[in-house]
Amino acid sequence: MELIIRNASLPDGRQGIDIGIKDGRIAAVTPALAATAAQEIDAGGDLVAPPFVDPHFHMDATLSHGLPRVNQSGTLLEGIALWGELKPLLTQEALVERALQYCDWAVGRGLLAIRSHVDICDDRLLAVEALLHVKRQVAPYLDLQLVAFPQDGALRSPTAMANLKRAIAMGVDVVGGIPHFERTMADGAESVRLLCEFAAEKGLRVDMHCDESDDPLSRHIETLAYHSNRLGLHGRVTGSHLTSMHSMDNYYVSKLLPLIREAGVAAIANPLINITLQGRHDTYPKRRGMTRVPEMLAAGIDVAFGQDCAMDPWYNLGSGDMLEVAHMGLHVTQMTGQDAMRACFDAVTSTPARILGLEGYGLETGCHADLVILDAANPIEAIRLRAARRFVIRRGQVISTAPAAHATLHLPQRPAHVNFRLQR
Ligand code: FE2
Repeated sequence: MELIIRNASLPDGRQGIDIGIKDGRIAAVTPALAATAAQEIDAGGDLVAPPFVDPHFHMDATLSHGLPRVNQSGTLLEGIALWGELKPLLTQEALVERALQYCDWAVGRGLLAIRSHVDICDDRLLAVEALLHVKRQVAPYLDLQLVAFPQDGALRSPTAMANLKRAIAMGVDVVGGIPHFERTMADGAESVRLLCEFAAEKGLRVDMHCDESDDPLSRHIETLAYHSNRLGLHGRVTGSHLTSMHSMDNYYVSKLLPLIREAGVAAIANPLINITLQGRHDTYPKRRGMTRVPEMLAAGIDVAFGQDCAMDPWYNLGSGDMLEVAHMGLHVTQMTGQDAMRACFDAVTSTPARILGLEGYGLETGCHADLVILDAANPIEAIRLRAARRFVIRRGQVISTAPAAHATLHLPQRPAHVNFRLQR
C-alpha cells in the first residue's frame, strides 16, 4: 500500500475502519487492515468522506466582486446588468487567474469536483477558452465540468444558439439553458425542446437554469421533464434552481413531482443564492424561493445543493465551502430530522457526484482515492461545525492540510492536564 488511513468513521456510520490506497485507488476498506504502507494517517475516529462536489457554479464570474462596480441593491436584476457591463471588459488572463484562485480555495476545502456554467453569449467565447484552459490545468487536483450557458437566452440572444454549439464543439461538456429568461413562455418551452434535442443528438447531459423566479406559473420544469422523457434522457438532465416551485399551487406540484421522477430529471437547489435573490418583490410574509427539497427527495428525485456564486456580481460572499452550503440548505428547508440532516451532507457529496456522472467516485474498493478527513465524527457534526478539512487527498496524495481546532484553557480550579477540544 502507498497510504493507509487508520481508524476512520465513514458517512454511512461505520467506525474503526482502515482504508488502504494503492496506485491512486482505494484497495481496501476494512477494520484492522493487516498491511503496511509508506505513509499512514491516524484519523483518530474522525469522519473520512469522499470529496465535496459542487454541482452548480459560475467560474467565469467568480472573484470579480467590485468589477467594474459593486452591486448596490444586491438584486438578481442588478447582478445581470452588472455582468453585462463586465463582459466586454473581460480578458482571458484575468478570467484564468480568478478561476485558478477559486480552485485553490476549493481544494483547501475538500471540494474536488465542480460543475460550472460558462456564459456563451459573448461572441468571442473568451470565457469558454479560459475555462477549458483552467479545466486542463487543474485536472490533477479537481474535476471541472463545464456547461454551455446562454445567460441572455438561447432564443432571445440572436447568436446564442450558434455560440452554444461552437462551445460544445470546443469541448464544453453539458448543454445549458435559461427558459424563464426567454421573451415568452412559448419561447421558453421552445428553447427547452431545441436544447434537449441537441443534447440527445450529441449524447450530452443537460443542466438548465430553470424557473429561477417567484412566478408560480413559471413551469418550464414540466417541459424539461416532458422532453427528457420523450428523448430518453433519463439520468442525464438536471433542473437548476426551480425556485418557482416554492410558490406553486400544491395540487399542481402533486402532479409535477411524479413527472420529474418518471423522466429521471435531477434537481439542484442553491440555498445561499435562492434565499437572498428571491422574494424581492414581496412585502411580508416574504417568500424565500427555496425549491421543495424534502418533497422531491420523498418522491425519489435526486436533489443536490450548489454554491452558485462566490464574490461575483450576484453575491458578495461565498468561499467554496460546501459545508456552508449544506448548513444553509438544511436550515432553509427545515431538514432538521436525523435522516434529513444526513441527506443534506449527501446533497453536497454523493448526490451531485451522481448528477455529474463522476467516474470512480466513492468509498468502495476500486474507487479513486479522493478523500477528505474532517475534524468531525459524523456528517451531522461536519455540517454543524463546518468542520476543518484536516487532510484533502487526491488520487492517494495529500494535497491540502489544515489543523484541527484545539484550545487549552488554563483555569486554576481544573486539573492542568485537561485539554479541551474547542468544538467537540
Ligand atoms: Fe446559476
